[in-house]
Amino acid sequence: MPYPKRNILVTSALPYANGSIHIGHLVEYIQTDIWVRFERLRGHHVTYVCGDDAHGTPVMLRARSLKLAPEAFIEKMNQEHREDFARFDIAFYQYYSTHSPENRTLCVDAFEKLMAGGHLIWRDVEQFYDPAENIFLPDRFIRGLCPHCRSPEQYGDSCEVCGKHYSPIELIEPRSAISGAVPIRKKSRHLFLRLENFRPQLEKLLRTGMVDASIANKLDEWFSGELKDWDISRDEPFFGFEIPGEKGKYFYNWLDAPIGYLASLAHLLQGIDQANEYWQNPDLEIHHFIGKDIVYFHALFWPAILIGSGRRLPNRLSVHGHLTVNGEKMSKSRGTFISAAQYARHMDPQWLRYYFATRLGPTPADLDLNFTDFAARVNSELVGKIANLLSRVAPMLTRLLDGQTGVITQDALALLAGYRTAQDEIVAAYEDRQFATVTRIVCGLADKANKFVEDNAPWSLVKRDAEAARGVLTAALECSRILAIYLKPIVPAFSAKVEACLRTGEQAWSDIEASMPPVKIAPFEHLVGRVDERQVQVMLQDAQVIPPAAAVPPTATSAAATSPEAAISAPAAKAPASGSGASPSADAFEPLAPACSIEQFAAVDLRVGKVVSAEAVLESDKLMRLELDAGPLGTRQILAGIKKAYAAENLIGRMVIFCANLPPRKMKFGTSEGMILAAGPGGSEVFVLGIDSGAKPGQRVH
Ligand code: 2FM
Ligand code: ZN
Repeated sequence: MPYPKRNILVTSALPYANGSIHIGHLVEYIQTDIWVRFERLRGHHVTYVCGDDAHGTPVMLRARSLKLAPEAFIEKMNQEHREDFARFDIAFYQYYSTHSPENRTLCVDAFEKLMAGGHLIWRDVEQFYDPAENIFLPDRFIRGLCPHCRSPEQYGDSCEVCGKHYSPIELIEPRSAISGAVPIRKKSRHLFLRLENFRPQLEKLLRTGMVDASIANKLDEWFSGELKDWDISRDEPFFGFEIPGEKGKYFYNWLDAPIGYLASLAHLLQGIDQANEYWQNPDLEIHHFIGKDIVYFHALFWPAILIGSGRRLPNRLSVHGHLTVNGEKMSKSRGTFISAAQYARHMDPQWLRYYFATRLGPTPADLDLNFTDFAARVNSELVGKIANLLSRVAPMLTRLLDGQTGVITQDALALLAGYRTAQDEIVAAYEDRQFATVTRIVCGLADKANKFVEDNAPWSLVKRDAEAARGVLTAALECSRILAIYLKPIVPAFSAKVEACLRTGEQAWSDIEASMPPVKIAPFEHLVGRVDERQVQVMLQDAQVIPPAAAVPPTATSAAATSPEAAISAPAAKAPASGSGASPSADAFEPLAPACSIEQFAAVDLRVGKVVSAEAVLESDKLMRLELDAGPLGTRQILAGIKKAYAAENLIGRMVIFCANLPPRKMKFGTSEGMILAAGPGGSEVFVLGIDSGAKPGQRVH
C-alpha cells in the first residue's frame, strides 16, 4: 500500500561532555537510532541530529582537574563520544556541540527575543558560595548530612539514602565538594524566565499528544500551582556563553542545551537561516527522544523558549525509562558503571542493540540489563533462531547445489505469504516504539521457517529431487532475506551480512514484496557470535562491576574485542602464574578455566625483563605503565594491573618475568606488549614475581 512520505527531524538528548558514554546512555541512542533507521527504511526523509552538552560547572571543573582548557577538554570528549556512538552504529546526520558559533548566535537571539517580549526578569538570589575557590556552588557540589535521616556525604538537592528532596541550605554541616570549605551564603543578581507567561500554551501543548497521557497527567501536577520562574543565569567562573552586556554572567547550560538541537541542525544545513526555515516548515515532524528525568526541561522550559523566540513547537516527546544493570542502579560509586567503550572492548554491539530492542516499549518503564537474560535472549533468539536459518541453509545450498538459487517450492508459498502479511503489524510496532513486539514477531517467523526446513529435509530431498531441494532452500533464503529487512533497524550490521550473502544489494522496506532474482549466493560468512559467559565476566571485571577475580586467558580477552566467537574457541593460553597485564589475577575459588594442553603450556615464552621505568596511569584505577629492558628482544611497554600494589619507584631496577609471545594488545591507555607474572587476590595484594641471581634481561626462564 502506498503511504505518504514524511519529513521528520529527530533528536536524542545531548550527552554531557564531562563524562564518557555509558550503557545507560545507550538505551536512548539505540532506541532513537532504531526508530530513525526504521523510518528511513520506509522511505521517509529523516534528519537525526545530536551533539555534546558542553557547558557548565562540572565540565569546567573536570577540565581544570585534568589541567586542560575547557575548549581542549570538550574537543577530546567530543571525539571520544563520536567514536563510541560509531561503535554502536548510531547513525547521526550531525553530531555537534553546544559550544559552537551557531549556538551562541541562536542563544543570544533567543535571549533578545525573550527580553523584548517581557519574559525575563533580573532578581537577587542568595546561594551557597565556596570562599576558598571563589565560586557559587551548584547543588551537586555541596555535601553534608541529610536533614531528614542525617546520612553523611549527601548532595545538596536530595539524599541517596532516604530519597528525600530538599534545598541545599537545609543540609546539616554543609561542605563544598570542591575545596571542602564551609560554604557561605552570598547574594547575586540572576536572570529568570517567567514561565507563568506561557501557561496557556504549555497547558494546551500537553493535551495535543506531544506526550503520552501518563506523562501528561504527571505534568498536570505542575500546573496545579504557580509555575515558578526559571533561573537561566550563572555567575563566573563558568564555562558557557556570556550574557550580552552582563560582565561575568553566563547563560545556564540548560538554556543553551536544547537550543543546541537547532545549532546542530544549522551546522548540518550550513546556516542559521536555513535551520530556522527548516524548523518552521509546518510539514516537518519534530521528535525529541529523552529520558524521563528531563521531561520537565523538554515539556516546560524548552517550549517556553521556543514560543518566546517565535518558533513552532515539537510534535512529540518520546520518553524512556532508566537502565539498571543486574537489578542495580548504575553508579560509579557503587561500581556498577559500564562505559560504552568497556562494553565494546569485549562484546558485540549488535547484541546490545538486539537485547535493548527486546526490552523496549513505548512507556518510560525502567529496563534491566540482566546478563543471564541477555546471554539467553541473544543466544536463543538472534543466534539460535534468526541467524540459524541462514547459517544452515546458505552453506547447504553451496555444498549441495553449487550455491545457485531456483524457483521457490509451492509448499513454501503460504509460509512466505505469512512473512509478508506480518509487515503491517511490524510497521505499527516500530512506529509506536514497541520494539519488543517486533523481535517477538520476527522470532515467531524465524521459528516457522526453521520448522519448514526441518520438515522438508532438503539434505535428503536433494538425493531424490535436486530441484525440489533447491526450491526448499531458496524459500528459506527468501525468508532470511525478509527477516533481515525486518531487523535492519535493530541490527544493521547483521542485516548487511545477510544482504552480502544473498547478493541482494541494499534492501528497502518495499523489497519485502519483491522476490529474489536467481542468484549464486556468496560463500557464507559468519553472521553473529554467541554470547559466552566468560566474555561477560571479563567485561564486568574490566568495568569493575565485579572485582577482579577469575583468571581470564589473555588471548580470549584480546580476541573478544574483534571476534566474539574467537573468544569462545581460543585456546586457553594461560600462564603458570597469573599474568598481570590488564587481566585480573587468579582466585582459588573460581571454577577452573578450560583445560590447557602441555603444548599450549610449553608455548608460553617466559623471559626476564628489567624494569627501566614505571609510572602509574593517572586516568586508570588499576594500571601501571612499565618499560622493560628485554635484552636482545629490545624494550617492551607493559600495562600491568598492579597500581594499587606497588609504588612506581619500588619497581624500577627490578628483574621481573614476563610473557613475551602474547600479541600486543591495544588498550585505552596504550598498547601492552606482554604480561608480567604476578599473583594474589587482587587490589593491593598482587605480588610481582621477581628473579635475581645473575639473570639477564631477555633470558628465557622455565
Ligand atoms: O540530562 C542530560 O544529560 C543533558 N545533558 C541533556 C540535554 S538535552 C538537550 F536539552 F540538550
Ligand atoms: Zn536522607
